[in-house]
Amino acid sequence: MRTVPLGDTGVEVSALCLGAMYFGTHQNQAESYRLLDHYVGAGGTFIDTANIYAHWVEGGRGGESEPVLGAWMRERGSRDRLFIASKVGFEMPGVERGLRASQIEAECEKSLRRMGIDTIDLYYAHVDDRVTPMAETLEAFHRLIQAGKVRFIGASNFLAWRLEEARWLSAQNGWTNYCCIQQRHTYLRPKYGASTGAQVVANEDLLDYCRSRPITLLAYSVLLAGAYTRADRTIPHEYAGPDTDARLATLQQVAAEQNATPNQVILAWMLQHDIIPLIAASTIEQMQENLDALDLHLSDEQMQRLDRASA
Ligand SMILES: NC(=O)c1ccc[n+]([C@@H]2O[C@H](COP(=O)([O-])OP(=O)(O)OC[C@H]3O[C@@H](n4cnc5c(N)ncnc54)[C@H](OP(=O)(O)O)[C@@H]3O)[C@@H](O)[C@H]2O)c1
Repeated sequence: MRTVPLGDTGVEVSALCLGAMYFGTHQNQAESYRLLDHYVGAGGTFIDTANIYAHWVEGGRGGESEPVLGAWMRERGSRDRLFIASKVGFEMPGVERGLRASQIEAECEKSLRRMGIDTIDLYYAHVDDRVTPMAETLEAFHRLIQAGKVRFIGASNFLAWRLEEARWLSAQNGWTNYCCIQQRHTYLRPKYGASTGAQVVANEDLLDYCRSRPITLLAYSVLLAGAYTRADRTIPHEYAGPDTDARLATLQQVAAEQNATPNQVILAWMLQHDIIPLIAASTIEQMQENLDALDLHLSDEQMQRLDRASA
């Protein structure tokens, strides 16, 4: 799989990152292993999890994904060939939301233990914390890096101005900077004022910020749980805005021209915008469809048509 730079870290990561959110809950161990093997078989090495995955699933408590990932890495002996991302900051049973130093340190230890590894390659602040002083959070992350428990840090669900503030503060203090931001992002744009709760959408402000700084944007919920192509899913209401029909029509048009699926066109469109999409799948067929987006090349004219489609 081709690789792309991760911010200004000097490290290259897989162009498509595998989301492991439902490993150990929706996907049992055998299914998770199959999906992981398939992704790695296609050359992928970048896998995304979090301490809280996936406590909201019936029977889940959080901490289900990391042990499956850890056991699979041990069985395959593959830890050193992979780039593992995890996160801290959201609440789950027994863990409060927040980015206090004590929370970051305790959750990092637990994630390392659950995965049975010594270092997390990329550790995210999963959600912004507007109460804890930013310096406390950034210094705690920096200490983890100095201790060798974490290699790089990223932010998720932050507004652009908060990310800039954090980067400025880190630079002033000689602490390690957030190298990337993971945000909710798909081809459709949410209608003005629509709420996605704690999940922050990559708006024009953030997209422009990431183009102007050496910060990689990673996108989650890219395929809206399959709603672009599946009869059993509907486009979430927050995306039913004035330009939805025009964008869906353009997507269909480009997909037909490319003999590709709308999902593949969205993934290719993101890749060509230097965004790393997170892909998740519950079947090998879905996973392969998503991986095949790597072979798609959209023309400049198609990119512009997709970008400009509006009501
Ligand atoms: N930072 C954050 O706050 C945050 C939030 C959410 C997610 N994430 C990360 O992003 C990853 C992906 O998130 P997501 O699950 O919300 O992504 P998504 O792309 O919106 O949904 C993935 C789901 O879409 C369906 N799907 C995938 N490929 C398909 C295809 N080719 N055809 C038809 N259906 C397809 C599958 O649904 P079924 O399983 O139902 O078949 C799959 O589980 C997660 O694993 C996690 O690592 C991060």
